[in-house]
Amino acid sequence: MSPTCFSAPKDFCTFTLYVLAVYQDIQEKVREEVNRFMKDDGTLAYDDVGKLDYLDMVFCEVLRKYPPGFRQERVCTKDYNDPETGLFVPKGTLVAIPMYSFHNDKQYFDNPDKFDPEHFTPENKAKRHNYSFMPWGYGPRSCLGMRLALIECKSFICHIVHRFSNRANRENSNSNQNRQSTPPTNASSRFGVEIYCFVNRMITGN
Ligand code: HEM
Repeated sequence: MSPTCFSAPKDFCTFTLYVLAVYQDIQEKVREEVNRFMKDDGTLAYDDVGKLDYLDMVFCEVLRKYPPGFRQERVCTKDYNDPETGLFVPKGTLVAIPMYSFHNDKQYFDNPDKFDPEHFTPENKAKRHNYSFMPWGYGPRSCLGMRLALIECKSFICHIVHRFSNRANRENSNSNQNRQSTPPTNASSRFGVEIYCFVNRMITGN
């Protein structure tokens, strides 16, 4: 289940805009951070994109809850006997790695249903097994476009939050008090989710 070069960043940015619209407090925190690095002419230096620590936490949380690919697959190239469990995997077996399940397992993430960028503080990250969060896959066949995707999606979101505020309609806006469950997505919301956009600032010459 490899996401594609075009659809994965598009889905990722869509979900990020969606959670920012639903969780106004998170949107404000992202905006405060972004505004510290944005220049007066509305540009953002390449090096500064890497300094946006809170945005990075929000991105990781979006990729945890809404990974563009929900599982990875590998074909077993030789018969394998697992010494710990005694499990035998014959050559040619398709092995599915349930990444989405790891991302939502309370063994790895406290309160996994809650959308909470704090899951990705440096302290919380250090406590977890590396393979518990794998939106880009792992190993020699992991995502080749990860760095490009991150830089393009971060730049896009930075410019949007700098210039605009967005808000979900009342039905979908569960804001601060009810962050215990994953917000509805287009898949579960009968008429989709309306997001309203308001201009924060005009930047001329851009
Ligand atoms: C949010 C954006 C993206 C996500 C979450 C994502 C995620 C993934 C995942 C999960 C895989 C499978 C890894 C595995 O099986 O271990 C993959 C593979 C791949 N991705 Fe991405 N991807 C994204 C964007 C991109 C972009 C923008 C490009 C290209 C410009 C790209 C190029 C590739 C390629 C070429 C592979 C296959 C690598 C291989 O088989 O050796 N991806 N990606």
